[in-house]
Amino acid sequence: MSQATTQVQSDLDRLLPVLDAALTLPFRHGDAQLLGEAVRYSLEAGGKRVRPVLCMLACEAVGGTPAQALPGALAMEYVHTYSLIHDDLPAMDDDDLRRGRPTNHKVFGEGHAILAGDALLTEAFGVLATAELDPAQRALALALLAEGAGWRGMAGGQALDLEGETLAAYDLDHLRLIHRLKTGALLRASLEIGAVLGGATPSEQAALRAFGEAIGLAFQIQDDILDATATDADLGKRAGKDAGRGKITYPSLLGLDGARKALDEATETALCHLASLPNRNSLAAWARYLALRAK
Ligand code: IPE
Ligand code: IPE
Ligand code: MG
Ligand code: MG
Ligand code: MG
Repeated sequence: MSQATTQVQSDLDRLLPVLDAALTLPFRHGDAQLLGEAVRYSLEAGGKRVRPVLCMLACEAVGGTPAQALPGALAMEYVHTYSLIHDDLPAMDDDDLRRGRPTNHKVFGEGHAILAGDALLTEAFGVLATAELDPAQRALALALLAEGAGWRGMAGGQALDLEGETLAAYDLDHLRLIHRLKTGALLRASLEIGAVLGGATPSEQAALRAFGEAIGLAFQIQDDILDATATDADLGKRAGKDAGRGKITYPSLLGLDGARKALDEATETALCHLASLPNRNSLAAWARYLALRAK
């Protein structure tokens, strides 16, 4: 096992119990039982929990604790899970397998899948709004969440991704923009919100924002590579879908070797942004590990 993988495993061992103890709490008791079930179905399906863990690690990197970052970590996993439920809908990527299970709309129907996404997105803001936080940190975290999730972030990127399906061609700059928005924006927000909740200085916050931006691009490049090279069983979602839908991706534009080179470059850029942080070892290990991940 590489040093990075050992570090990642030890971070997961100590941070996942903190996250898992709180993850489905807001969705257990309420009148709309079936909707609660639909939300828990996707949250409990597993998933790598990359965004909440990075949120907690960013908080630690600036001297905070995982508990301090927990509202941000929960918010990020809620928004991410919502983005996946909607991404899989027939009107978007039309997928039937996610996190090793039939997609949300296959089990609960499209209406409930849309509403499960709505409930998760809304609860993400709710969990930050109601946590015991310093008012200035709370306001900033909420603004960063809105930036990452909304039309300047993930939702905007998903729109450009959809519009791209009808274009015969576009260049690498445009693809990079789509990747930065649809995937990079939520990873960036995870790091930056963790930094804010840990009481980061402005320069630490800027460094973690830049790290998140670079790691976000790297993450989607690796997602494109895995779509072209891995199996359904490896991924817990359908592989080979990008080519099937005629999507423009890093491998389709640059070939697999070119895509791997771009992935390495984005990872190195990410690592450079950590240089000024005192507690950077875990985040550096995660950056290396995510570039090598097999799912
Ligand atoms: C998948 O994200 C969608 C992308 C943004 C590439 P993940 O690979 O983090 O999915 P889970 O959370 O592990 O299911
Ligand atoms: C999705 O990108 C990014 C999101 C915002 C959900 P993909 O469509 O490539 O993600 P997967 O491959 O379905 O997980
Ligand atoms: Mg998609
Ligand atoms: Mg998809
Ligand atoms: Mg993909």
